[in-house]
Amino acid sequence: MRQTTRERLDASAREILQENDRGGYTVPARGLYPFQWNWDSCLVALGWAAFDEARAWQEIETLFGAQWDDGMLPHIVFQRPDPGYFPGPEVWRTGRTPATSGITQPPVAASCVRRILERARDRPGAEAAARRLFPKLLAWQRWFHCMRDPDGSGLVAVLHPWETGMDNSPAWDEALARVDVAPDLEPYTRRDTQHVAAAERPTAAEYDRYMTLVQLYRAHHYGPEIVRQAPFRIADVATNCILLRADRDLLWLAGRLGLDDAPRAEIAGWIARTEAACAHFRDPASGLWHSYDLRVDARAPTPTHAGFLAFWAGVGGAALADRLESWLAGTRYGLASVRAEDPRFERRRYWRGPVWAIANFLIGAGLAESGFDRLADRLRKDTAELIAEHGFFEYFDPGDGSGCGGDRFSWTAAMWLAWAGRELA
Ligand code: GLC
Repeated sequence: MRQTTRERLDASAREILQENDRGGYTVPARGLYPFQWNWDSCLVALGWAAFDEARAWQEIETLFGAQWDDGMLPHIVFQRPDPGYFPGPEVWRTGRTPATSGITQPPVAASCVRRILERARDRPGAEAAARRLFPKLLAWQRWFHCMRDPDGSGLVAVLHPWETGMDNSPAWDEALARVDVAPDLEPYTRRDTQHVAAAERPTAAEYDRYMTLVQLYRAHHYGPEIVRQAPFRIADVATNCILLRADRDLLWLAGRLGLDDAPRAEIAGWIARTEAACAHFRDPASGLWHSYDLRVDARAPTPTHAGFLAFWAGVGGAALADRLESWLAGTRYGLASVRAEDPRFERRRYWRGPVWAIANFLIGAGLAESGFDRLADRLRKDTAELIAEHGFFEYFDPGDGSGCGGDRFSWTAAMWLAWAGRELA
């Protein structure tokens, strides 16, 4: 890639973040997602850090400003009203200021904090920010281990597909089909399909179940008892791997910041417990990692790209790298979120086939750290090529590379600045 092309793309990526900046937080995309999203903001901070470190820290600190007293960090913070989105604060009714949703998202925050700190040009500023954030990160991760794994099994549960950040992944099909749509489901109007083609979004049957779950948890005020009553209860392989990595990074932060009173033994205990429980994810027949359905005590039948987050967690090995290699052989661009040979593969439908820059980054960074440099580089180059040739889309068709979903998407721009657009040959 020519230097001028790279400079042009760097400038566009910065422009996208600035245009989606609402003052202290970045919306994922104009129109489609007009609020602050949890894991988007943390990953977007990596992009800000490439040219404005203070703004990167502000992104994460604004997000944690909406943390609940019990440690939960909500998946959406409705910083300012916007009637163009559904389900908004009037549906969630969490009674918080600022208004928030009542469920969470994958805990990438601690790992993003570590990454920004390690690369910081302003060291004292970065250390001060990380020090302020440390107790909040700790509280959120403790919330996961206590509230979402009350029996101490080592597997934390997600109670809604939206908590996984991979809303309509085929890994949830069976579990979601077992959720009976509430007979008293309040009538609603979707807004997402007014922004993006319906064929690239979840189906109506899925949406009814998403709303049934929201209605149920709301009736319980999102209290601790929902984990036992939830009709949808999955140990998502992505969330668990991301949490395992976040626990390691929290421990690293405690050391780096010299926090003598940090509960290191407690964190080390979480790490050991999760590492042991990871055996549930691995299908011995195929060697692939699946999510685990806690309601029926069995692996979810369909494996997705989420299983390769084992590398991000530091528990992927050579056998899984081989599986990744053959998964990559199935499409022109990697990494398809669902294997091209899978009957449920749909190349343009959201989390059922398309390539996602953020997933490529998390898996790619993990591969590089585990010594699988060639595969890591393949994911980085594919991501760079998709962005350079098709734009900063929400996700991409793994066949022809065309962009799908929202355009001028913040976390895709951030992934360019922080990772895909670097070290280009
Ligand atoms: C969708 C995605 C989720 C993301 C959000 C905002 O809901 O599935 O992962 O956080 O959009 O981009």
